[in-house]
Amino acid sequence: MAREDLERLIAAGGVPPRGALAHLLCRAEEWIYELNARDHWVFRVYERANVAWAGLVFRGVRRKASAIDTELVARDGARIRFRFLVPGDEPAFADMLARFDFENLPPHPLDRATARRVLRQANCLPFGYFDARGALRGYLLLRFFFPWRVTSGVWSFPDFGGRGLTQAGLRVTAELTRQARLADYITVPVGHNASLGAATGAGWVVVRTNRRFHVLLNEHSLPQSD
Ligand SMILES: CC(C)(COP(=O)(O)OP(=O)(O)OC[C@H]1O[C@@H](n2cnc3c(N)ncnc32)[C@H](O)[C@@H]1OP(=O)(O)O)[C@@H](O)C(=O)NCCC(=O)NCCS
Repeated sequence: MAREDLERLIAAGGVPPRGALAHLLCRAEEWIYELNARDHWVFRVYERANVAWAGLVFRGVRRKASAIDTELVARDGARIRFRFLVPGDEPAFADMLARFDFENLPPHPLDRATARRVLRQANCLPFGYFDARGALRGYLLLRFFFPWRVTSGVWSFPDFGGRGLTQAGLRVTAELTRQARLADYITVPVGHNASLGAATGAGWVVVRTNRRFHVLLNEHSLPQSD
C-alpha cells in the first residue's frame, strides 16, 4: 500500500463494517479477541478444538513450514536468519518472551510453559529472527483456526525494528499460506500504526475495523474481483 493511502486510512480511523452481518462479525471478533487476551477458559476450549482440528488437517503445512530457513536482508544491510522454531529453541525462546516488555504483547502468556507449548502445539507455526551473532531477536507466529485460516503476528525487540524485517518475514510466510490456500489474517490494534504500516507494506489489506482493532486479510486471500 502506498504511503498516502496508508495515511488516508489512518486518518479515516480504518474501514467501518458495512451491513448487519459485518457488524455482527465485528462483535464476535472483538469478543474472541477479549477472551484470548484474558486467557479465558472459553477461549482455551476453543483453542483446544483448533489444536485437535489442526492435528488432523494442518500437518502438511506444518511440514512445509518446518523446512523454512532463509536469510532476510534488513534495510541497513544486516543479514538476518529467519527459520522455523523447533523444541530445541525452547531456552532462547523462553528467555526472549520473558524479556518482552512492550505494549502489544503476543496473544499468549509469556511464561516458560507457554513457550514450550507454542513450540510444540499443532496449531502454532513459530518462526524466529536471528541476528548475526545467532541471538533470537523476534518471532513471527502463525496460528491456525477452524476451518482453514491463520492469523499472523510479529513481535520483536524495539531496537530490532524499523528495518523492514517484519515485512520481509511476513512475505515469506504469506507465500506458505498462499500455496496452502489459507485465509491469512492479521489483527492490529487501532492506533498501532507501525504494525499497520508493516502489515499493509507486506501485502495485507484492511477488510474491517471494529472498536479496538483493524482486521486485515492478505491480498492472496481476498475474493477475486474479475
Ligand atoms: C510493530 C512491529 C511488528 C513493526 O516491526 P518492524 O520490523 O519495525 O516493521 P517494518 O520495518 O517491516 O515495517 C514498518 C512499516 O511501518 C511504517 N511505520 C512505522 N511507524 C509508522 C507510523 N507511525 N505511521 C505510519 N507508518 C509507520 C514504517 O515506515 C514501515 O514502512 P516502510 O517499509 O514503507 O518504511 C515491531 O515494532 C514490534 O515487534 N513491536 C512490538 C510488538 C508489536 O507491537 N507487535 C505487533 C502486534 S499487533
